[in-house]
Amino acid sequence: MKDIKKYIDTHQKRFLDELIDLLKIPSISADKAYKDEVFNTADAVAERLKEAGCAKVEICETPGYPIVYGELLKDKNLPTILVYGHYDVQPPDPMDLWDSAPFEPVIKKTELHPEGAIFARGACDDKGQMYMHVKALEYMTQNDDLPCNVKFMIEGEEEVGSENLGWFISRNQEKLANDVILISDTGMIAKDVPSITTGLRGLSYVEVEVTGPNRDLHSGLYGGAVANPINVLTKMIASLHDENNHITIPGFYDKVEELSKEERAKMAEAPFSLENYQKALDIDAVYGEAGYSTSERNSIRPTLDVNGIWGGYIGEGAKTVIASKAYAKISMRLVPDQDWKEITQLFKKHFESIAPKGVRVKVTPHHGGQAYVTPIDHIGYKAAEKAYEKTFGKTPIPQRSGGSIPIVALFEKELNSKTILMGFGLDSDAIHSPNEHFGVWNFLKGIETIPHFYHEFTKIKTSEN
Ligand code: BES
Ligand code: MN
Ligand code: MN
Repeated sequence: MKDIKKYIDTHQKRFLDELIDLLKIPSISADKAYKDEVFNTADAVAERLKEAGCAKVEICETPGYPIVYGELLKDKNLPTILVYGHYDVQPPDPMDLWDSAPFEPVIKKTELHPEGAIFARGACDDKGQMYMHVKALEYMTQNDDLPCNVKFMIEGEEEVGSENLGWFISRNQEKLANDVILISDTGMIAKDVPSITTGLRGLSYVEVEVTGPNRDLHSGLYGGAVANPINVLTKMIASLHDENNHITIPGFYDKVEELSKEERAKMAEAPFSLENYQKALDIDAVYGEAGYSTSERNSIRPTLDVNGIWGGYIGEGAKTVIASKAYAKISMRLVPDQDWKEITQLFKKHFESIAPKGVRVKVTPHHGGQAYVTPIDHIGYKAAEKAYEKTFGKTPIPQRSGGSIPIVALFEKELNSKTILMGFGLDSDAIHSPNEHFGVWNFLKGIETIPHFYHEFTKIKTSEN
C-alpha cells in the first residue's frame, strides 16, 4: 500500500481526463430524449472496468437501462466486496443558472477547493464518486495489491427510482453474492472532518391532481361560486403540517423510531455551525419541526415537501381564469421503521379525505424505498473507520444523512449484506443543482482511501474465520 500516493500522483492528470470524458455524455435517465446517451454511458463504463482490470464485464439488459456488471475473482476463500454506483445523472435544468455548460466539464478553483473542482452534472453524483472505485481498482490490479474478490454493479436508473435494479438483483442473487457492499454516493462533513454515512432516509414520492370544473372558466363570471382547484390544492397542502410543523397525516408517526437521549446527545457532538449553514444558503433563519435541531430535522425525522406545483395561467401578463386542474409533486422522506408503501397509502387516504366537495382528487404514487441504517459495530464499518484513519489521520464521525438511496434496504433484504457508505462529497457540491462540482482533492482522497478499505476488510474478515 505504500505506493498508492505515488501512483495517484503519477496518474492524476489521466484520471481527471478520463472522468471528464465520462462527464461529457449526458446520461439523463429522466428524459427519454437522452436514451442513446444513457446507453452509450453504460458502454463507456464497461470499457473502463475492463481497462481497470476486471476479468469479466457484462452489460446486463433490463426492461429499462442496462446494469454494468464487472468482476475480478481471485479466490473463493477470500472475501468479496460488491461496489455499487450509478452512471445516470439528474436533468441539468434550470440551464441559465449554470456558469459553464453542464456537459462541458471544467476545472475551477473555489474557496473550499483551492486545488480545483470539476464542474459538471454528475461530477459528484455519482460519476465522479463511482469512478474513484474504478481507479482504485486500477491501482490495485496494476500494483498486485488486490487483497480480495471484487464485483461491480453500476446502474443507470438510480435518479429515477432504480426500478429495474430490484428486478435484476432478485434474479441474480448468486452472481451478486458478497460479504459487504461498498458505495460512494453520499457526502462527508468537511475535508478536515471525515465522516461515514450510517443512515439514509426512505422515500415516498407521489403526484396529486385536483380537478374542479370540466373546463377553464372566466374568473369573474364563475370566481367565488365554484371550487378553484388551485386554491383548494394549496389549502390542502398547507393543512399537511400543523403549527409545530408536525405532519398531520393520521398514523404517519406511528412507526417512527425514537432515538434515545444518549443517541441524540452523541449526534449533537458532530460539528455543525448554524451560522455557516444559514450563510451558505442565504437565509436568516432555519425552519422545521418543533423540538428538533437542524441536524436532526434533516436526518432522523421524517418530512413532507412539495417539489413542484403547477396549474392555471403562468404565461406573460394576466389572464383571468379559473383552471380546471391543479397539480403537485410531493415527497416524503422516511426514517426507520416507516414502511414506504404503508405511508403512501396513508397519504392517499388522508389526501382524498380532506378534499372539499366540488373537486375530485387523484393521488398517483411514483417510487419509493425504505430507510437504512448501517450498524457501527459491523466489521465493514470498522474496516472503513481504519481506512479513513490511515488516509485522513483522524477517526471518522458516523453521521446519518437525509438523502435516500432506496435500493440499499433492498440489498439487505435480497442479498443479505450490509452496506458501507463511504461518501467523499461535500454539502456544498451542489448535487442536483446548477453548478454541481466535485473537489479534485476529494476525488483523489477517495481513490486513496478505497484500497485501504479492501485491505482492512480482508484482514478483519479472514481473521474472523
Ligand atoms: N446520491 C444521492 C443520494 C444522497 C446524496 C444521499 C447525498 C446522501 C447524501 C442519490 O443519487 C439521490 O439523489 N437519491 C434521490 C432518491 C432517488 C430515488 C431519486 C434522493 O435522495 O432524492
Ligand atoms: Mn447518487
Ligand atoms: Mn442523485
